[in-house]
Amino acid sequence: MNILALETSCDETSAAVIDLNPKRLRLAAINISSQIKLHAPYGGVVPELAARRHAEIIVPLINQTLKQAKLGPAKIDALAVTGGPGLITALQVGVETAKTLAYAWHKPLIPVNHITGHLVSPFLKPELWKEAQSKKYWPAVALVISGGHTEIYLMPALNKWRLLGRTLDDAVGEAFDKVAKMLGLPYPGGPAVAKLATKGNSQSFALPRPMIKNQNYNFSFAGLKTAVLYALKKYSASAINYQLKADICASFQQAAIDVLLYKILKAANEFKAKTIMVSGGVSANQELRRQLVNQINKLPPTAYPLLPTPYILLPDLRFTGDNAAMIALAGYVIAFNGKKLNKYQNIWKNLTAQANWELWG
Ligand code: KG4
Ligand code: ZN
Repeated sequence: MNILALETSCDETSAAVIDLNPKRLRLAAINISSQIKLHAPYGGVVPELAARRHAEIIVPLINQTLKQAKLGPAKIDALAVTGGPGLITALQVGVETAKTLAYAWHKPLIPVNHITGHLVSPFLKPELWKEAQSKKYWPAVALVISGGHTEIYLMPALNKWRLLGRTLDDAVGEAFDKVAKMLGLPYPGGPAVAKLATKGNSQSFALPRPMIKNQNYNFSFAGLKTAVLYALKKYSASAINYQLKADICASFQQAAIDVLLYKILKAANEFKAKTIMVSGGVSANQELRRQLVNQINKLPPTAYPLLPTPYILLPDLRFTGDNAAMIALAGYVIAFNGKKLNKYQNIWKNLTAQANWELWG
């Protein structure tokens, strides 16, 4: 079954076609057009500019994607689109385009929550997909970390998710971006902070590990960001040199990693997870990936008594950020492996983008 998906929730315009059945996943075509250069001068995403750019390029992008997939509309079985959460003006471009295509082509249209896309993104690998529904991976615990989200879910199966905890203020990616801004690093801040952190000493600044001792799975990153600001205030502008910035980046990144890994391992232990998944833009962070693998391999039996060595599933780097391939896969999963497509035949009539669509609502 061929699913054509669109993603326009923030600053990437993306279209993808995936050919799916329960045992086979073939990525027929994927295009991701980043708006980084457009927003960089403003140090963050400008919603109005994002929407305008999505509107300019979405139709040519769909055309190009279908050409690459060597498929005409007649061969598309269903459409999927990110319905929220995200920037409303940006979401509307994808949603209205998908509705128009669904109407004109008489196709079912599956609205997908953006987080669901990130949750299933580690399975965008043909080898892994074959076994995605097998019992060996479930239950899983999943950490979604991006510019807008920091959440932990329990997943009893690939199409079932329950929120265990989330950030009470800033998302972790947002904290990376804000720390980058304080240090005068380029937008987007996450990759810049991660790169500079490789040259720094993570022990040099004693930063807080917010909420690490709380008995829940919630997070808070606003305080960590403020602690970085206060640490910097102790120095004159001329003293904030390359090495000091690198030390700040390394110390901040380590504080964030400590909290994220502590909570996801705690959840894995409590729910006897067979798999730990980490996805979203921040899951591209190499230091976080390295420490996750290290911690799992070095677990003392007494630290997490309930946890047999779990699988670690991470998305390919090209699918950590926002992309339509994960939306196509999520659409397929939501429609019960495409068995419930009938339900989505007339969705185009009433679908509206929802900026605050909560997966746990
Ligand atoms: O998933 P994503 O592309 O968009 C949202 O749904 O928010 O995530 C973007 C976020 C940004 O905050 C960016 O700075 C962060 O992911 N990011 C990173 C890294 N690469 C991207 N954060 C830390 N380390 C990285 N290597
Ligand atoms: Zn995202």
